[in-house]
This record gives sequence, structure tokens and C-alpha cells, in this order.
Amino acid sequence: MCGIYGCCQRAKAAKSALCGLEKLEYRGYDSAGIAFLEGEKIEIIKSVGKVSNLKIKVGEKVSNIAIAHTRWATHGRATALNCHPHTSENFIIVHNGIIENFKELKSNISEKFYSETDSEVIAKLLEKNFDELSEISDINERILNSILKTQNQLIGSWAVILICRKNPLKIYAFKNKSPLIVARGKGENHVASDINAFEKREKNLLKYYNLNNRNIAEISQENIIFYDEKLNKIEIKEIKKQCEICQENCNYKHKMLKEINEIPKAIYSTKKHIKNSDFKKLSKKLKNYSKITIVGCGTAYHAGLYGKFILEKYLNKNVSVELASEFRYKTQIKEKNELVLAISQSGETADTLAAIEIARKNGAETAAITNVCGSSITRICDYVLQTRAGAEVAVAATKSYVCQILALYMLASSASGKRISRGIDKIANKTILSFSLENLKEFLGVKKFFFVGRLCDSATASEGALKLKEIAYVHSEGYSAGELKHGTLSLVDENSLVIAIITQSNILDKTLNAVHEVKARGAKVLIVSQFELAGEGKEILLPAAKEEIMPLISVIPLQLFAYHYSENNGLNPDMPRNLAKSVTVE
Ligand code: AGP
Ligand code: GLU
Repeated sequence: MCGIYGCCQRAKAAKSALCGLEKLEYRGYDSAGIAFLEGEKIEIIKSVGKVSNLKIKVGEKVSNIAIAHTRWATHGRATALNCHPHTSENFIIVHNGIIENFKELKSNISEKFYSETDSEVIAKLLEKNFDELSEISDINERILNSILKTQNQLIGSWAVILICRKNPLKIYAFKNKSPLIVARGKGENHVASDINAFEKREKNLLKYYNLNNRNIAEISQENIIFYDEKLNKIEIKEIKKQCEICQENCNYKHKMLKEINEIPKAIYSTKKHIKNSDFKKLSKKLKNYSKITIVGCGTAYHAGLYGKFILEKYLNKNVSVELASEFRYKTQIKEKNELVLAISQSGETADTLAAIEIARKNGAETAAITNVCGSSITRICDYVLQTRAGAEVAVAATKSYVCQILALYMLASSASGKRISRGIDKIANKTILSFSLENLKEFLGVKKFFFVGRLCDSATASEGALKLKEIAYVHSEGYSAGELKHGTLSLVDENSLVIAIITQSNILDKTLNAVHEVKARGAKVLIVSQFELAGEGKEILLPAAKEEIMPLISVIPLQLFAYHYSENNGLNPDMPRNLAKSVTVE
């Protein structure tokens, strides 16, 4: 969610920070701002709306130090006043996250506040602590101690980068819960909330470090020093750069379309690399857990629903799936020998991380399926399975979802000694190639959608409905087909399109019952299936494959349909309103 970028680089700092913000745009934001050192002066420029507006305002500037921010407002509207950076007499800060105790902190500070944000209190608190620490003669040490004291007073989540007017040739970065990555280069050093912000552009960047909670980084052009929460100098293990992604859209109009077309490659790569030592250990232990709970949010939660289906089927054991945002607050019933398996593309979703922390406190073993190597979730879970979808930039998860399902299928297969299906990437490719919008044009104006399916098809139905809501702003419901008649059927009429996903032969007839029921109420029907059911309604015919892997395939036309619906209605599917790629606040 939102982004943060700082850098120390001869002459080019402001330019690099703005390019960094552009790379972070995909995460979602409503305004942007920058502070940079120009000669002796620190310039602050803010702009509501796009980074391109900010770029125009800033122009070409020669600067050695800059910090910049894209804001996704949590406290206070998206106005220029609330835009970051925020300041006090000596401190200029940018912040991602939420300061939960900002009201209480504010009440103890006499300095005037200018914004409605929670973030401004960080700048003011740093100032207060800096004043109180005047006995420390070394400025650098005084700044570090002010940060330490401030961090100890804050409650919530933060990734902060600051410039102090008393030592403006350095930037300082510190964090708790929100991500922050430092990149070391030759004669230049950078810091950002997301490794994608550095990719490709910074050819000189050689090493990447993920800050741990409450670590502090002191960054200058020549050097980076890391400190722990007691201000001891520490070494931080280098993290591997993620596989390169083509940031351009290549031949595609949007990133989402590009990413859907990358599904076959993502499947191939995930299948090839996922069986690391954690995968092997976990698949051996899986049968022995007394309880398995899967947690995730949004699309990842839908992958979890598939996980329940496949693990129960292959391991013959009860598995539960919980929304991470619910799991973290529900009554925790401790059980010996429990596994909590989190699914998260980004590995940074606040609710999912909190769910894992709670599981750990309760003594459960924890595992993560994530697409981002080195993300926060990889550092707190006992087992990490990494999908290899490549960086996913469009807000709507597509290739990462398919890879999550693949990871769950492979885990369940390995744990139960079943052979893994071959050629899944080729089947996915065939599905993409055979998709034809021509046949679906009549549905592009429909305003009422119901996606139905049973068992694992119900998970696909929920995911299909979510895609449409997210990027096309159309009301759609994902339902277990058997539930329609228990209430929702009253909504179905001749203006409705019911999309029925039917990939499991044992419940084919049952889902068809629901199809007949909605047809009888005048609804239009679109069937997504590998079985020839055209007699029942319009059909997207899928290539045949082992039934257990059909959810990897059947979701693809739903993703494509949502994409085209959005595009056809003049929307930008890559950046839906109000949404952010990763939700790093509660
Ligand atoms: C999916 O299209 C959405 N962007 C959203 O539901 C997402 O899946 C959810 O926020 C979880 O994100 P994560 O996988 O990065 O944890
Ligand atoms: N909570 C802060 C605000 O509303 C920071 C939001 C963000 O992470 O962009 O300004």
C-alpha cells in the first residue's frame, strides 16, 4: 500500500526518487510528495493525484539527497496539506503505515500541527526528543538516539525515512511492521518500501537488505550502517534480488493482461522451483499435524478454499480456512501439533502477518506460500514455499493466484504420494489462446452477476466474482451453487448473468440443477467447463485435464472476462479505484 523512497546519490537524488515513486505507483496512492536538498536548502514539493503531476512541479533538479512518498490516506483526506513529507523544525519525514497512538502523543506536544494525519506526530516527536537529548554533542549520535526514543513511544506500523536539517547529507530509515528495503550501490545508496522500486533502473545497485522491525539504517552516499533496537551496530543478511520482470507492458495494453498471459511461464517456473527443502520437510510432516488452518485475505483466501478441498481430498484430514482478518481476533483454541499455513502473494498483508504472529504465540508451527522472496512473511514462518509467478504489478491478482493453487496441489500430492500432473503450463496456454471475447460481447453490459460452483469450483466462483468487483466495479456474487435457493435466488431475474463453473464430475448434475433453477427465472447462463454442456447455455469450453487441477485453468477465462469488461467500459484495470496492491495496514 502506498510507497516510500529515499536516496543519496550525486546530483541525481531527486530524479531517482521520482522514478522510484513511479515504480511504486502500482501499489495504489492518492497523492505524492518529495523533499530534496538543493544547494543548502531543503525543498519540499507536494501534489494531489498522480506522480506525473509531482514530476512536472519538481522539474529537473540537481540534488544529492531526497526522500519521497506516495500516500494512501488512512488519517485525513487526500489534500496537499495532508500529503507527505511532514516536518518539524529540524526533521522532514515520510511515513508509510499507521501510528495508532497519535492522538495521545499529540496531546503531549506543544508544537503546532498542520495536517490531519497521524504521521505528522513522528516529525514533532523526533523534534521533542532531539531537544531533550541536547547533552549528546555528536549530531549523528543525537539523531540516532532521537529515533530510538521516538520508536519506543510509537505504537502501530511504520516505515519512515527522514532528513535532519542538522545533518542533511544523510538519510535515516526505520521501521516496524511496514516493509523497508535498503539497496547498496557504488557511490549511491537507496531505500524503498518495495524491492520493485529499484528494479532494472538502478544498474549500479548491488546488494539488498530487508530491515527487521525496529532496526535503523543510517545512509549516506558512501556508506550504510545498520543498528538494532539498542543502537548496536549490526550486520543484516543480504537478500536475493527477485527475478527481473519486464516493467513495460510489452505488447499488452495493460499489466493485468500481460500478467494473465504470463500464467503458463509462471506455472512452469513454480513447478520447477517450489520443491525446496522447506517444501520437502513440510510435505513429510503434513499428515501428522492434528489441525491444519489456512489463512489469507481476498484472492489468497480463495486459494485457501482450494487448499482445503485438495488437502482434505488427498490427506483425508480436516482442514479449515479462515480470513486472516477474522482469525487474528477470534477466540484461539490452542491445540498441540497445529499448522497455520498463510497464503500471501506480497508477504506483506498486515492481517495475514498478524494472524501468523498469533499462531506463533499459540505454539503452532507456521508456513507461508508467498510470491515475494525476502518479504516479511518469509521471516516469521517456519516453512516458506515460494511461488515463482514473477513480480505481479497489476492490483488484481491473476498469475499469483494460479501459482498459489499449484503450490497447494503440489504440496497435497507430495504429502500423499500422488503423482503430479504433467503439462499444466501447456493446458493453461491452450486456455488463454482459445479465449474469445467475440462470443462474450453480449455480456459486457450486464450489471448483475452470480458466479456459482460447488466444492473447488465454489472457490473459483468467489474469485471470478471478486475480479469483476475489483476492476469493473460491477456488483457480482460468488456462491456455492447449492446455496442459491437458500436466499439469493430471489435476486435472480432476466437481467442477471449466472456464470456456472463445472469441473468436477461428481457434482456436475448438482450444479446443473442450479443452472436450471436460474434459467427458469429468466437469467442468462454462461457455463465454464471441460464437459460439453453447450445445450445448457452458452459455454466456455476448457481443455480437459485431471479434475483436481481444473481450478488452475477454469479461473483464467474469468480473469480475462473481468479484464475485458473493465477495459471495454473505459476503466483502467491495472489501478482500480480505492484499492492498493498490498494492504500493509489494518
Ligand atoms: C486480489 O486481486 C486483490 N488484490 C486482493 O484481494 C489480495 O489478494 C489481498 O489483498 C491479499 O494480498 P496478498 O496475497 O498480497 O496477501
Ligand atoms: N497514515 C498516514 C497518512 O494517512 C500514512 C499513509 C500511507 O502509508 O501512505 O498520511
